[in-house]
Parts: sequence; structure tokens; C-alpha cells
Amino acid sequence: MCDSPLVFFGLYRNLSVASEAMGHVPVLPQQVLDLLSPGPGETVVDLTVGLGGHALMLADRIGGDGVLVGFDVDPLNLEKARHALNDCACRVELIQANFREARESLAAVGVKQVDVLLADLGVSSTQLDDPERGFSFQGDGPLDMRMDPRLEVTASDIVNRIKEKELADILYYNAQEMASRRIAKRICEARRDGRITTTARLMEVTARAVGVPDPASRRSRIHPATRTFQALRMAVNDEIGCLGALLDTAPDILSPGGRIGVIAFHSVEDKPVKVDFRKRKDEGIYRVLTKKPVVADEDERRRNPRSRSAKLRVAVRLPEE
Ligand SMILES: C[S@@+](CC[C@H](N)C(=O)[O-])C[C@H]1O[C@@H](n2cnc3c(N)ncnc32)[C@H](O)[C@@H]1O
Repeated sequence: MCDSPLVFFGLYRNLSVASEAMGHVPVLPQQVLDLLSPGPGETVVDLTVGLGGHALMLADRIGGDGVLVGFDVDPLNLEKARHALNDCACRVELIQANFREARESLAAVGVKQVDVLLADLGVSSTQLDDPERGFSFQGDGPLDMRMDPRLEVTASDIVNRIKEKELADILYYNAQEMASRRIAKRICEARRDGRITTTARLMEVTARAVGVPDPASRRSRIHPATRTFQALRMAVNDEIGCLGALLDTAPDILSPGGRIGVIAFHSVEDKPVKVDFRKRKDEGIYRVLTKKPVVADEDERRRNPRSRSAKLRVAVRLPEE
């Protein structure tokens, strides 16, 4: 058990309060615990430890004999997770690494097989809310979008360097932006007047390309720049490539009976999870626990807007014949 007072007065309520204070509330907390069912003494890997919200719940379940490994590419979040997990009774290993290298990073801390793998994909609220990180068009800042500061290519590099067709493909394939060609064309025209280096400038160019949305349209409920920002963030951080590498490695890392859970926030990242789990089910490698993705109930959707698009899929590693 964690020695933290959080645990004693009702884990979830207090966890919410603590996480809200830290700026991030973990999504689908009860469903994660129910489906991944971490038990005493187990080895759990939170592949996207973020601010430690899910990790704290998992650590509480595995107790003093368990091992919790947390990965994050963002050293600032990792520091916050370290703080949140400080009083946990289990062995805690926090590693600044990309989960695409999960196997090698786990081997480096002496962990070969794990009982629970959790990936809560995308960015954290701390990253989104900091204008200096450049993830959001709400507030002006440098057009950066690197979750991992060791990466060399920023969103600004992509926007200013690549060809119009490539840019349109990024917008279309990463975020299903229907106006991808129009936006890419407008960006390429705008950059002739000078490099696009800020979030405000990119938002302005994108909004101008898309035009004022029709209030009657379902798609108009989101800001016209939302998909462009999402697509660029995914490109900068190679989010789909990382997810693919993780899905390929997971069966080798999981012990027989081990559980993997992935929380996705849009169809472009949920689809590869669905397809992978189905393929491995057909191959006799996984049993899929979630026929349909698990989503947040009304109460959670109201309390935590981020949960509205969350989809959790869980599978169990079957023993080899
Ligand atoms: C949605 S947040 C996770 C929040 C966490 N579940 C919590 O309860 O606090 C996603 C985190 O994953 C990290 N991340 C995203 N892609 C990653 C990757 N490929 N490898 C490691 N960390 C990654 C981000 O930096 C971010 O901190």
C-alpha cells in the first residue's frame, strides 16, 4: 500500500482532488483498475506515467512486494510523477524513455516480464496548458510540440520545411482533416512571407484557410485549427509509429496472464489497437476483454472533459502452447 494519506480516505475521491491540484485527472480510473486488475506483488508498467495519476492507483494495488515502472519522454512530467509516487510502498522505477523502447528500458532495470502494461496516449494537461510547449492554440507560444525535448524536429520545422503535398497528407492521415489540402496550400503561401514560428500565427493561417464554421455543422463544434494542431503534434512525436512499435513488442514483454490496456483519444490511434488486438486474438496470443472500447460514464464526462473522447481497450496475454 502507499503510505500516502491519499489512500486512506477513499482512493479515487482523494486522487481526483490531488490530481486536480496538480492539473491532471486520470481518465477511466475505475475501469482501468477493474480490467487490468493489478494484484499484490505484481509488476506493473505505466508506459505514459505523466503526472502519476494512474500509476498511484496501480501502485496502491500491488503493495510493498510489487514493482512499478513508469516511462515518460517528458522530464518535467517525470519529475511530477516522482513527487506523486514518493510515498509508495512498492519499488518504483521512473525512466525517461520512449515506450517504443520498452523492452530495452525494462531490461536495463532488470525487468523481463510484466503483469500489467498501461498506455494512456497523447499529451497531458500540463503540456497542453503551457504556451511555451506550443501544443495549443489557446495562448501564443513557440510552435514546438515536442513531448521529448531531445527530439530535433519541431512543429515549426515541419510547417516551414516540407512540401505542400506532404503537409496535406500529415493533416489528413493523422487527424482526418477534410480541408487538409486547403490548409496546406494556405500554410505554404503564408510561409513565403516569413517562417511560421508561433502557435498564434499557425492558428490564424489555418482559421483563414478553413473559414468561419457553420454553426449547424457537427464538425463546427471544434475550433478550425484543432485537427491541424493534433496532426502536427502526432507527426513531431511520431505517435502512430511509437504505438505500432509498442503493440509489436507487448506480447514479448507480458507474462502469461498479463494484461495490456490502451487508452486512445481519437480513431486514428484507437484503430491500430483494435486491429492489433483482433489479429493477436486470431493468432491465439491474446484474449480481448473489451469487445467494444470502454468509455466514460456521464458523471465522469461532466467532471473531466478530457474523458469524453477516451476509449479503453484491454487484452490478456495467453500462455504459449
Ligand atoms: C495523457 S498523459 C498520461 C497521464 C497519466 N496517465 C496520469 O494519470 O497522470 C500522456 C503522457 O505520456 C507521455 N508520452 C506520450 N507519448 C509517449 C511515448 N511514446 N513514450 C513515453 N511517454 C510518452 C507524455 O509526455 C505525457 O506525459
